[in-house]
This record gives sequence, C-alpha cells and structure tokens, in this order.
Amino acid sequence: MENPSHSKRIFSGIQPTGNLTIGNYLGAVKRWVKLQAEKIDTIYCIVDLHAATIWQEPRELKESTRELVASLLACGLNPEESTLFNQSQVSVHSELAWIFNCVARIGWLNRMTQFKDKAGKDREKASVGLFAYPTLMAADILAYKATHVPVGEDQKQHLELTRDIASKFNLDYKVRNFFPLPEPLIEGAATRVMSLRDGQKKMSKSDPSDFSRINLNDNNDLINQKIKKAKTDPYPLPDSLVELQERPEALNLINIYAALSDKTPEAVLIEFSGKTFSYFKPKLAELTVDQICPISDKMKALQKDPSYIDSVLENGSVEAEKIANPIIDEVYEIVGLIRKRRQH
Ligand code: TYM
Repeated sequence: MENPSHSKRIFSGIQPTGNLTIGNYLGAVKRWVKLQAEKIDTIYCIVDLHAATIWQEPRELKESTRELVASLLACGLNPEESTLFNQSQVSVHSELAWIFNCVARIGWLNRMTQFKDKAGKDREKASVGLFAYPTLMAADILAYKATHVPVGEDQKQHLELTRDIASKFNLDYKVRNFFPLPEPLIEGAATRVMSLRDGQKKMSKSDPSDFSRINLNDNNDLINQKIKKAKTDPYPLPDSLVELQERPEALNLINIYAALSDKTPEAVLIEFSGKTFSYFKPKLAELTVDQICPISDKMKALQKDPSYIDSVLENGSVEAEKIANPIIDEVYEIVGLIRKRRQH
C-alpha cells in the first residue's frame, strides 16, 4: 500500500505469548478492527522477535504465533484490508533496530518501567534483548513511518521513547521530519483492564492465577465462574464515576462492561446505579459470553488450517516489505552505509 502523502498510517504490535486476554482485546485488538473499518492504512504485526527476549520453547513459539493469527482473524482483522504479518519475516525491523540502538541512550532505556518489572530483582541476568526491547519497538513503528499507534496504557512510555528516538535521528542526521513523531492512540474505557483478583494490578497473560483474567478462548462456564468470583465490594453501584475512585475492582468491571458494549462508563453507571454486584455480575457475564464465545468458536475453526494461517503471514510480510524496504534504503543512505542495489 503506497502512502506517498503520508497522511495517516496505523501500526501496532502484539506478542505471541499465551492466550489473548480480554485486556488485549479491549485495550488493543477491538480498536484495531475499528480503525481497519475506517479504511485507514493499517499494519498489524505479531512481534515474535519481542517474545524471544525471554526464552521460549521453539515449537511453542511457532504454535502461539499461529494461534494468535487465528485469534486476530476471529476478532475481525481482515488480511484483505490490513497488513498482518509476523515481525521476523521482515528483516527491516531488526536492521532498523540496530541503527536505533546507536541512536538511543542507555540512560533512556534505564528509565523503562517495563524492563524493571520484567527483569525483576536480578537485572544482571536479564537478556540484552529485553533491555533493548524498546528500540526494536521503535523500529517496528518507524520502519513504516507510522503516524498513529493504538495501544493500551502500559505501552505509553515505550511510545514516548519512540518519539525521542525519531527526533534524535532527525536531528543527528539533519533530516528534518524524516521520521514522523508517532502519536499513541490510548482511547476508550479499557485502556488499562485490571486483574479480576486485584484491582490495583494489570490483567496479564502471565499472571499465575487464571482467575485473574478472561481469555479469549474461555468457554461460557468458565467466563461465568470467573466473573462470579471476581473480587468486588459489598456496596451498591453509585451513579457517578467519582464515587468509584476508591473502589478499583468495581471501576474495572464497569469499564469492561462499557468497552464491551461500546458505551461510556458514565452511561453504564446510569443503567446500573443502586444495583448490587449480585445483579450486575450476571449481566456482565452474559455480555462477555455474547461477545467472546463467537470469537473463540471462529478461532478454533481457523486453527484447523495452519497452511492458511502461514499464507496470511507470508502475504502480509510481502506487503509490509513493499513499504519498509524503500524506507530502510533511505535510512542506510542517510547514515552513510553502502548497500548493494535491490533486485526488483
Ligand atoms: P502486548 O503483547 O503485551 O499487548 C498487546 C496490546 O494489548 C494491550 N494490553 C492491554 N490493554 C489494556 N489492558 C490490559 N490489561 C492490557 N494488556 C495488554 C497492550 O497495551 C498492547 O497494546 N510491546 C508491545 C508489543 C509491541 C508493539 C510494537 C506495540 C511491539 N512493537 C509497536 C505497538 C507498536 C507489547 O508487549 O504488547
């Protein structure tokens, strides 16, 4: 897809590690599908090289990559309308990441909270890849000169770093506006879906408790049980959001309901004000089952055809390269690297 005037180009990525949660769905994928429907240039990438920053069982990594493609297609991504591929098939990501490793400063990366969380106490033992993760992420986005990046709130700091890298590259090489400064799109009621067990913790694929999250492949019974057991408080729902500030678990469930039903949290509170959780939870469970179960049914059907999944990724990577190759050629020229001419 050519975009010479460079109006608006969306890029986002997702890691193939474990099942998608309703947090990934509401914070990112559901919005990707909406952007696709707006006929904007949309590029979505399964970031398998990012997953490799923490050791993965090789066979499982392939399986999870295919499973994730099936989930994304089941959620409504259409490979005819969006470019969908896995990162490792387009070598420009790694090439540009190296250039950005030479642009970004160690001090910038030292500030990344995600590295601190993932590396834990023994950061000396974390992989160099985990530390440099944000420069690869900047390369993912800027390899396409993407202008807008729909993500959940946890990615905000990485997006700020991407902008810093783009600015410094433009400045260091005196190429004003070569890379755009991409805008994060962090919007809607579910930019940070919290754990069902603890309203202070982000819902995550890696939480040891499966009851902390709803997975996109959970069945009807499991979704009902998880919502029934979700931590709440004994008070009825208020009629305004301000009154939920000190009630994180209640706020989280209202936000999930709002994002699933495409309403604002304020509208949901008006609907349920004065009601207790014994009334609200079954309604939330019903809505979740209605939205999630058809996705998991489609996903299972798609998973039966891995060669179709592989062809989607291959075609997507060919499309992605059409955009990224001329950009990396220009980058090498700007940086002063001699390169053999491409065969067309
Ligand atoms: P990842 O794979 O952890 O998550 C994928 C997307 O899901 C969002 N998300 C959430 N949103 C709301 N509530 C939650 N509990 C929740 N959990 C996850 C994430 O914010 C993300 O949008 N580093 C990225 C992947 C990446 C990327 C990129 C994203 C690599 N390169 C370039 C954008 C652009 C990550 O690990 O996402």
